[in-house]
Amino acid sequence: MIKKGIILAGGTGSRLYPATKVTNKHLLPVYDSPMIFYPLNTLKKAGIEDILIVCGEDHVGDFARLLKDGSEFGVKLTYKVQTEAGGIAQALSLAEDFVNNQNMTVVLGDNIYEDDFSEPVQAFEKGAHVFLKEVPDPNRFGVAELDENNNVLSIEEKPENPKTNFAVTGLYLYDFTVFNKIRSCKPSARGELEITDVSNLYIQEKNLGASIIKGNWSDAGTHESLFRATVIARDLKLKNA
Ligand code: DAU
Repeated sequence: MIKKGIILAGGTGSRLYPATKVTNKHLLPVYDSPMIFYPLNTLKKAGIEDILIVCGEDHVGDFARLLKDGSEFGVKLTYKVQTEAGGIAQALSLAEDFVNNQNMTVVLGDNIYEDDFSEPVQAFEKGAHVFLKEVPDPNRFGVAELDENNNVLSIEEKPENPKTNFAVTGLYLYDFTVFNKIRSCKPSARGELEITDVSNLYIQEKNLGASIIKGNWSDAGTHESLFRATVIARDLKLKNA
């Protein structure tokens, strides 16, 4: 059972230059809405209404003007500034006080999902859980190595020679031991604290669950994937009209 949600919306958005030169990636439109509406809705659909948004210092005012205290969206919002883009796990470490020893659902601010995650979110008790999707270009993602029962044996971040086509998507269920795990991580070659290293620590403890998602999903961190995310968002809108 999870009540707390965290949207990670920091980072530089450098792969979307020049579209992100004067604004933040998560404020760019995906079909008819700013990108951040989608992860917000993913959490809300899963029954999570107490949400922390971690964002960079340059645009925190824009996020606050757009989303205010969350009441228009039926959620309660808190904001936290990530002063430098130290990686996804570093951004998550800033949520420790907000989470206050409880379980949490973490969603990356540039991930667009069709699925409803209420079941796994309500059933979650301890450890960690990741959500996988088969993709044609796994080397852009964290990639899961699986056994015959679809248990995750390892996750590799952007491998040159991926062991499978299963990308680890940007939604994670964690218990509060995640913060000690982040403290034990070292920056990767790209100078970031990697969420993949954190999930691998759960694997070592035999505490990482995984499921394969059924619906459409895309990240939106490159021009190509933003385009795909826009098509998914439009299809969803038309389907639900
Ligand atoms: O989209 C899923 C993929 O996201 C996973 O498969 C990878 O394992 C994971 O590392 C991540 O890969 P990316 O390289 O695509 O992540 P990116 O740097 O684009 O960051 C994704 C979101 O995380 C971004 O929209 C905002 C947040 N973020 C990122 C960084 C680097 C922060 O809040 N702070 C940061 O410092």
